[in-house]
Formats: sequence, structure tokens, C-alpha cells
Amino acid sequence: MVTSYDFSSISIRQKFGLITGGVTPRPIAFVSTINKKGQVNLSPFSFFNAFGANPPILVFSPSRRVRDNTVKHTLENVKEVSECVIHIANYEMVEQLSLSSGDYAKGVNEFVKAGFTEISSIAVKPPRIKQAPIAFECKVNNIVETGKEGGAGNLVICEILHAHVSNDILDSDGKIDPIKMNPIARLGANYYAQINEKSLFEVAKPLAHPGIGFDNLPNSILQSKILTANNLGQLASVKEIPTKSLNPSTKSIEESHTLAKHLLDNGDIEKAWITLL
Ligand SMILES: Cc1cc2nc3c(=O)[nH]c(=O)nc-3n(C[C@H](O)[C@H](O)[C@H](O)COP(=O)(O)O)c2cc1C
Repeated sequence: MVTSYDFSSISIRQKFGLITGGVTPRPIAFVSTINKKGQVNLSPFSFFNAFGANPPILVFSPSRRVRDNTVKHTLENVKEVSECVIHIANYEMVEQLSLSSGDYAKGVNEFVKAGFTEISSIAVKPPRIKQAPIAFECKVNNIVETGKEGGAGNLVICEILHAHVSNDILDSDGKIDPIKMNPIARLGANYYAQINEKSLFEVAKPLAHPGIGFDNLPNSILQSKILTANNLGQLASVKEIPTKSLNPSTKSIEESHTLAKHLLDNGDIEKAWITLL
């Protein structure tokens, strides 16, 4: 059974729930801005992502409030001073980040409210958070309003001018280590997720060659009651099916699929294929 929703006949709140509960996990832009008077603002936005490296573009969206169609101070600020710093928060900062999202009056500095330390940026006026593992100093190239009513987004299109990365999150090759970084993501309702040893896994890129695809898997494998869809995806990722062994296996289908599943779950695709032939 599937429940389907016609977006022309559901409420904005329902749409919001489906989008924020469904488009997950979302990264969080923790954005500092400044207005013409020099008043600093800091707020989190999970309608956020990266959209290219050349030019290096990040986009976040402060929405119009559903309850009264008002706009966020962050949006007003980037319209006055078209610069911001987008920080990526880690788990250690999550309670302070949540605190900073409170509806404080205009002009209130959430660095102070949430207990973060301001340090001067290099290329832009808004200060950055000392405690953040990553900070991207950005100029705002463009703001695209997606609508005029409550719930509408405002795409703040930012170009990165300067990045700051804490050495504490780098591996021995100078690359960002996801475990050391410990980033957080937003899901629906009050849910967040964290990257740690348990949640992190690797999937090899099928870049060296395209895989044979599901359409070339033998029926006996496709219809397996033991191999999962992920296991089939691994088997379909090989360049070609290995040639059949001269000593065909004496195992039952159940036995060979069970052994292949074990090998696949441990990443040994080649041996799994040999077991299945
Ligand atoms: C994790 C998190 C993610 C959020 N994402 C968004 C978002 O994408 N868009 C939005 O308009 N508000 C979002 N909010 C709510 C804003 O942070 C909140 O309205 C904030 O008070 C806006 O501050 P400002 O008016 O000072 O700019 C989020 C809040 C949290 C805690």
C-alpha cells in the first residue's frame, strides 16, 4: 500500500511535513549575517546544499513564515549586506544551534544568546564562529524568491570566497575525516542525525567501468530469496560475469546464495560471483 498526496489539495503544513520528513537527511547551513547598522545575526537553515565547485556555489533558503508570512532577519540582512558566513555544525554544537533558532527580536545577536565566540572573517563583514569545524565566507550573488505567500522559499545563492577548516577534523592526508568532523543533519519533526562509526559506510564508485546491470543478471540470482536488492546491485556492478568454474559447485542454491550473501556483505564481489556460478 502507498499513500499518495495531491499537492493541489493538501495544506501548506502537510506539504511542509512531507518535504521536511521526506527530504532527509538535510545538511544544515549555520549562517552569520550582518545588517547596514552592523548588527550581527546567526541562524540555522536546513533548506541548504552545494551546487557546484566552479564557481563554488552554496544555496540556503530562509522561508516566509507559514503563520504570518513574515520573513527571517537573515533574509533582510543579506538584502542589506550581500555577504554571509555559512558554517557546518558538528554534534558538539547542536543544542546551541537549536537555541540560536529561537525567534529573537531584530538586532539580537544569536552568537551571544547561543554562547558562541565571534572571530573576524577575512573576506566578508559578518563574523564567523570560532567553535565551528568549517566556515565558508561567501558573497551573495543572487536571491531568488520562489513565491510571495507563507511557506515560500528565498534561495540565497552564495559564492564561496574563503574556507576555514579546523585541523582537528583532517586526516593524515589533509582531507576532511567525516568521523572526526562529526557533522549533523536535519530530518523531520525534532529529529537530527549524526555521522559516526556506526552510521558511516562506503560504496565503491562504478566509475572505472559501467556495471553489467540488473538486466544481465541470471534469473536464478534475480529471484533469490536470500540475496537482497543491495547484494544484487553489487553483483550487477561488475564489468562482466566471471567465466563459469570448471568444477561447478556441489552446494544447493540456498547454500551458495547464503555464502554469496556473506561474501557480498563483506565487500567481496568477485568471490561471491564465483560461489554463485
Ligand atoms: C536545524 C534547523 C534548521 C532550520 N532550517 C530552516 C530553513 O531551512 N528555513 C527557514 O526559514 N527556517 C529554518 N529554521 C528556522 C530558523 O532557524 C528560525 O526561523 C530562525 O529564528 C531564523 O532567524 P532569523 O529571523 O534571525 O534569520 C531552522 C531551524 C533549525 C533549528
